[in-house]
Amino acid sequence: MARQVLRGVDLEVAPGELVCLTGRSGAGKTTLLHIVSGLERADEGEVLLDGQALNRMGESGRAQLRARTIGIVFQAFNLLEHLTVGENVMLPAAFLRGWVENARDRAGEVLDKVGLGDRFEALPGVLSGGERQRIALARALFAVPALLICDEVTANLDLETAREMVALIDGLRRDENIAVLAATHDEALVRLADRQLRLEDGKLR
Ligand SMILES: Nc1ncnc2c1ncn2[C@@H]1O[C@H](COP(=O)(O)OP(=O)(O)OP(=O)(O)O)[C@@H](O)[C@H]1O
Ligand SMILES: [Mg+2]
Repeated sequence: MARQVLRGVDLEVAPGELVCLTGRSGAGKTTLLHIVSGLERADEGEVLLDGQALNRMGESGRAQLRARTIGIVFQAFNLLEHLTVGENVMLPAAFLRGWVENARDRAGEVLDKVGLGDRFEALPGVLSGGERQRIALARALFAVPALLICDEVTANLDLETAREMVALIDGLRRDENIAVLAATHDEALVRLADRQLRLEDGKLR
């Protein structure tokens, strides 16, 4: 029988709000983030994105809505190694009608935001871990997301670089009113949060 990971989770994130999701390893944080972003389907319940029911859409509808409204930063970065930094950042354009023409400009803009505007033509392989993490953030910002989802974005970074990442994320929700949902063990990020939700026995506490 399938294992039940989440039970009766209810959660709302408002524009500009930073909500941190904590809980021990295996508690279901990544699972919950995948459900919120429509990468995985919940067996029951509803996910509303900008008022639209994500869970009632088909695969391509979900992909479209996700590309338009959510930016996701995975813990493992998920950069494509054979593409340049700029091309990696432009990847979401494939799902976004009307973005193709100015995709290069937009990629440059978001790379500037994370302080890596000069690495457009570099291959990810030559970048440091912190730089790769920022490229992943730039890609998540490409489509001007209403919601930014971060999964352990500082876990692989040294203290100094982690602090920069935290400041960057906090700045984004303050200056651009982006809602942020972040699974994290990082005390510095949790301290800045409007709310901390702890996942335990499949429930939020
Ligand atoms: N595709 C899957 N099939 C079966 N079990 C899974 C699957 N994905 C996750 N699980 C299980 O669900 C539980 C929750 O996993 P999840 O990755 O959400 O935890 P987490 O809180 O993100 O942990 P961590 O802090 O280590 O990242 C774990 O017991 C995991 O083994
Ligand atoms: Mg996880």
